[in-house]
Order: sequence, then C-alpha cells, then structure tokens
Amino acid sequence: MGFKYNKVLVTGAAGFIGFHLSRRLLADGRDVTGIDNLNDYYDVTLKEKRLAMLQEDHGFSFVCARKDVSMWLSIWLHRPACAIP
Ligand SMILES: NC(=O)c1ccc[n+]([C@@H]2O[C@H](COP(=O)([O-])OP(=O)(O)OC[C@H]3O[C@@H](n4cnc5c(N)ncnc54)[C@H](O)[C@@H]3O)[C@@H](O)[C@H]2O)c1
Repeated sequence: MGFKYNKVLVTGAAGFIGFHLSRRLLADGRDVTGIDNLNDYYDVTLKEKRLAMLQEDHGFSFVCARKDVSMWLSIWLHRPACAIP
C-alpha cells in the first residue's frame, strides 16, 4: 500500500474488512494495533478465529474494547493533529 506509516491502528479488526485490511498491512511489514469490541452482531467465534490468525504475526497487537471507544479514539487521533503548526 502506498503510504509511509509503519504503525497503523485498525478499528473493527476482528470484522470482515478490518481482518483483511490488517492482514494486508502485516504482509507489507507494518505494525498493526487492532481494536474491536467483539460485539455479537454475528458469531463471535468467527471474530476470535480471525484474531487468532492475526496474532500469529508478531507485528499485530490487539486491544479489546468492551465499551465504546469513540471518545478515546477522537483524543488519540487529535494528538498528532496538535503537532501540526
Ligand atoms: N463488508 C462489506 O462488503 C461492506 C461494504 C460496504 C460497507 N461496509 C461497511 O464497512 C464497515 C465494516 O464492515 P464489515 O463487513 O467489516 O463489518 P463487521 O461487522 O464484520 O466488522 C465490524 C467490526 O467492528 C467491531 N465494532 C463495532 N462497533 C465497535 C465499537 N464501538 N468499538 C469497537 N469495535 C466495534 C465489531 O465487533 C466487528 O468485529 C461497516 O460499517 C459496513 O457497513 C461493509
């Protein structure tokens, strides 16, 4: 993928798109932090299997967010923006 960042945060990493995006980023040699609340909209064991596959790569780390993290993420994403003059 044509962008310069080596550390990437993927939201919904246990979901369909997040899983495949994480796999692609890891295959490119990037470090991926995946975050997901493992909701039961569909079979949670499928999400756990996806995470187990991702965790075989040492570049992957997982944050299980049982609560809504939208506020936390907005703070996280805002911090780098503060450094831009
Ligand atoms: N799959 C598709 O073909 C497709 C096409 C167009 C758009 N989309 C959209 O892309 C998004 C992702 O699609 P998907 O198929 O990967 O869905 P998905 O349900 O497989 O994955 C979403 C993941 O996000 C997690 N999640 C949901 N709310 C969360 C929260 N508050 N905090 C942390 N984790 C949370 C869920 O547990 C789930 O694992 C959806 O908004 C979907 O509508 C999907």
